Amino acid sequence: MGATKKHRLGIFISGRGSNMNALLASCANGLLKEVAEVVLVFANKPQAAGLETAQAANIPTAALASKGIPRATFDQKVLALIEPYQLDYIVLAGYMRILSPGFVTAYPKRIINIHPADTTQHQGLRGYDWAWKEGLEATKITVHYVDEGLDTGTIIAQYPVDLKGADSLEAVQRRGLAVEHENYQRALWQILTTSSTQ
Ligand code: GRF
Repeated sequence: MGATKKHRLGIFISGRGSNMNALLASCANGLLKEVAEVVLVFANKPQAAGLETAQAANIPTAALASKGIPRATFDQKVLALIEPYQLDYIVLAGYMRILSPGFVTAYPKRIINIHPADTTQHQGLRGYDWAWKEGLEATKITVHYVDEGLDTGTIIAQYPVDLKGADSLEAVQRRGLAVEHENYQRALWQILTTSSTQ
């Protein structure tokens, strides 16, 4: 991409941030290196382990506890907090909150999520538990745009996870996460290299 400006990403997390970490690595030295930079990692839980990982990588972080605050009020606070960062895209990576309509309309088609199942088959929490309990031989990871619903936004890409021979929930999770880490960067690359904000 030469001298073209990199897209400014804000990654939103609530927990350990393994997808965040994979994306930081991709922006630092991988597929996304020429096209994106992570300018903020935000958490709605100040104790989210991923914040420390981001800080160790010298990425600016911010946290605001969402507990007990009405959704729309909290989201307005987050919008105000992130405004100075001029984010081109908000990348959800284990961000355990449904976004309010006010938040979604502030970043139209610029909020992206990764979901550990086929969103047409399973929405909400525990996608790997679902695949394990159903005894699936294969599942899918979905990367999608975020709307006001629970995992209802337009699908950007899906990636298969082979579960044949996976003999525990942990094995299902391990295989799924490996697919997530490899492919979230690919889905983002696809969006960023065809994006009108470049
Ligand atoms: C991942 O399975 C992701 O698909 C889902 O939440 C989990 C987050 O894991 N949305 P991590 O924090 O990225 O390790």
